[in-house]
Amino acid sequence: MQYVMKGGNPLVGDVVIGGAKNAALGILAAAVMADGPVIIENLPDVKDINALIGAIAAIGARIERLDRHRVKIDPSTINTVKVTGDAVKKIRGSYYLIGSLVGRFGKAEVELPGGCNIGSRPIDQHLKGFKALGINTEVARGMVIAQSNRITGGHIYFDMVSVGATINIMLAATLADGITTIENAAKEPHVVDVANMLNSMGANIKGAGTDVIRVKGVKALHGTTYSIIPDQIEAGTFMMAAAVTKGDIMVKNVIPKHLEAITSKLLEMGCQVSEFDDAVRVVGRPKLTHTHVKTLPYPGFPTDMQPQITVALALAGGTSIVTESIFENRFKYVDELTKMGASIKVEGNVAIIDGVESFSGADVTAPDLRAGAALVLAGLSADEHTVVDDIEYILRGYERFDEKLRGLGAVISMVDNERDIMKFKLEVI
Ligand code: EPZ
Repeated sequence: MQYVMKGGNPLVGDVVIGGAKNAALGILAAAVMADGPVIIENLPDVKDINALIGAIAAIGARIERLDRHRVKIDPSTINTVKVTGDAVKKIRGSYYLIGSLVGRFGKAEVELPGGCNIGSRPIDQHLKGFKALGINTEVARGMVIAQSNRITGGHIYFDMVSVGATINIMLAATLADGITTIENAAKEPHVVDVANMLNSMGANIKGAGTDVIRVKGVKALHGTTYSIIPDQIEAGTFMMAAAVTKGDIMVKNVIPKHLEAITSKLLEMGCQVSEFDDAVRVVGRPKLTHTHVKTLPYPGFPTDMQPQITVALALAGGTSIVTESIFENRFKYVDELTKMGASIKVEGNVAIIDGVESFSGADVTAPDLRAGAALVLAGLSADEHTVVDDIEYILRGYERFDEKLRGLGAVISMVDNERDIMKFKLEVI
């Protein structure tokens, strides 16, 4: 599938942000640990989330879709701890079922996680954490097999800050005997959201949002109703869209505090940013100012916003440097952006960007989720038509992306064949 678009319109208006995909993955996994039904609200309707819900249904949980953004999960009917299938292999978040299933049932067999190809993505820290809790793990035939007769609290010091490992160990420690201390924990908003959700089921987790998390094991978890926080990265993508298209966007239903690293870069680039209780307004400017960016764990600048800010800086006056310090292979989209006229040189994990006046439309391919979204932003600012191919990646994490962009004045359409691309190009001149 492709997005075809005609760039040039400044994006103007309001956009409403959905629930955080990466929080939702942890929260869905947590739901399988409850003794009673769990209702999850503000769930994004995106492919990765629907794949994980499918995996939870496949192990026997009863799933009821209350509406597009609410689901009821009754885990009392789970009849296996073996999680397999194509959908599971493709997503990253399936690894949270290792922590939650072994935590609740003492055993889990989960297909090795996939996810975006943005560099090697080992799970050694997850396995090291499980070991500290008395959980044995083995990787065989593409499956992670985790097992324990008695999960006990332990002390874990992560070698690097890992969102996934922090959430996974929190899940596994929730029903353990005794207290678990996680040091050098990830502080991302979605880590806090998963902890809050577990606490609403009766868990005893303190310190989430700092780099030391303490989990006091409890005997059981009960059902709950929980609403997921807004998606920091979806919000950031639309904020950056205002900068890239010289627009004026009110990004609604956000937690401005979670966006501060992005806001501060937009200000350095000369945009106007106004914060409200649950919204931020970004006004672009005719010529952006160059700046330097280094991706870091929260509260640093998020790696998941690196491609989008690179697109903006590629249109800024002067030279900018973007350093990717989380994933080693997250500049693959730069070749595609070069086809649109960007002047960027990548050396290792550093991109040196010489700003150009404008992009020209081209046929490009999304290499992963966030880079795909970034190429769409580039296309919306470009002269002429742009086709972004392989948008399946984008659909994994952005709900109704094209519809939301059209609401801001973008001329963009989702298509799945050459004929429709031709038709769009002939109709939209
Ligand atoms: C999560 O990935 C997100 N995915 C990613 O979002 C996000 O880019 C990333 O966190 C960083 O914020 C999900 O939540 C499903 P990490 P995760 O463990 O958990 C290394 C998106 O676009 N590491 O925080 O896989 C790792 O290689 C996606 O929505 C180990 O070496 O990231 C990386 O360099 C893409 N061993 C660093 O740590 C481990 O055991 C951070 O990874 C675990 C991680």
